[in-house]
Amino acid sequence: MKLTDAINLDDLRCMAKRHLPRIAFDYIEGGVDDEQGLDHNRGAFDRHRLIPRYLVDVSARPQTTSLFGRGYASPFGIAPMGLAGLFRHGADLMLANAATAADIPFVMSCVGSATIEKLGEVAPDHGWLQLYPARDRSISEDMMRRAHDAGIATLVVTVDVPVQPQRERNQRNGFTRPLNISWSARLDAMLHPRWLADYLRNGMPVLVNWAPYTDDGATAGQIAEFVGSQLPAPLSWREVEDYRRQWPGSLVLKGIMHADDAIRAADAGIDGIVVSNHGARQLDRAPSPLEVLPAIKAAVGERMTVMLDSGIRRGSDVLIALCLGADFVFLGRPALYGTAVAGTAGAAHAIDIMRREFDIVMAQSGLTDLAALGPECLYRDPSGDWANDRRI
Ligand code: FNR
Repeated sequence: MKLTDAINLDDLRCMAKRHLPRIAFDYIEGGVDDEQGLDHNRGAFDRHRLIPRYLVDVSARPQTTSLFGRGYASPFGIAPMGLAGLFRHGADLMLANAATAADIPFVMSCVGSATIEKLGEVAPDHGWLQLYPARDRSISEDMMRRAHDAGIATLVVTVDVPVQPQRERNQRNGFTRPLNISWSARLDAMLHPRWLADYLRNGMPVLVNWAPYTDDGATAGQIAEFVGSQLPAPLSWREVEDYRRQWPGSLVLKGIMHADDAIRAADAGIDGIVVSNHGARQLDRAPSPLEVLPAIKAAVGERMTVMLDSGIRRGSDVLIALCLGADFVFLGRPALYGTAVAGTAGAAHAIDIMRREFDIVMAQSGLTDLAALGPECLYRDPSGDWANDRRI
């Protein structure tokens, strides 16, 4: 199957499922506990309908969006995903290159395998850095300094990992710390020769950004152990306020799910939040970000940039999120599936699919101006608690 045979993001997911060994695919795809959150995130989008308005001139329908004083070509970017190098060697920079070419932001995870410095070099205008604060505060402060020196303008601090979650797929596969890979997972890896060849050629991805804080000559495994000893770190509003004082650029908190927390972030001078449940990878019974978005938007929409991720798979999902108040959204897994399957071209294909779908769905809905989107563009199932009082 050729890359261009993937006509939607689910096709890319199916291709990735064939390409990757189970241990790798499960790591990307999985949620936590019963994995109800994955369906719940999708269901929140599925409960909405877009009310088409016809007889409108839709010949021009720009997607360009301004964020933190800078324009991007579409209202979506690529979310941070750690360990991306395990799915294809060099995946972080492939994502960065595809995002740069498409003129959208790419948030690189601090547990990625490209250096902060390299991100600044290849994606000076599109690369954002995501930070998991370390137990040793001097490490996080040094990473911030490095990001600033590398010209990175936007820092994303992820706040939704107070403890390591229980990802049962990883436990079954033995993808744990320390690694204890099951025999069936090893055998399964042998049956995926293209992935295996890439892995054997390049070895275990190195969490390079942490190498300066370990002993000289530490192996990939030793660095990973060190990172495991540093994360997750206790994080409170006091640290957030410190980061605000230290980081001169745009500062974003990722994982805010409550309007009161959003207000507190705005009070602390934070520039933006990503309303996110980490793609249903942390608290299985958390609501979908889309469900809490309207309350958060009402609370802080005038004061800060409100972004959203988790479960976005279609152009219509992007439009629904924008109608409910998101200024911008991020794609997670689909971009990584594309990269795993076909490197930079695969990441670019995922972006193209999303951009094309968004364009078509705007036209089909009779919408031409992102600034004019609102809940009145949506129809909500009156049998649910989503009744749209302006339309029903
Ligand atoms: C993630 N996510 C994540 N978030 C973060 O802040 N730092 C990280 O290092 C990671 N790592 C990571 C790895 C993988 C494999 C996945 C799938 C996700 C969460 C990510 O940024 C984002 O919130 C979700 O992926 C969005 O949901 P969807 O689009 O994947 O449903």
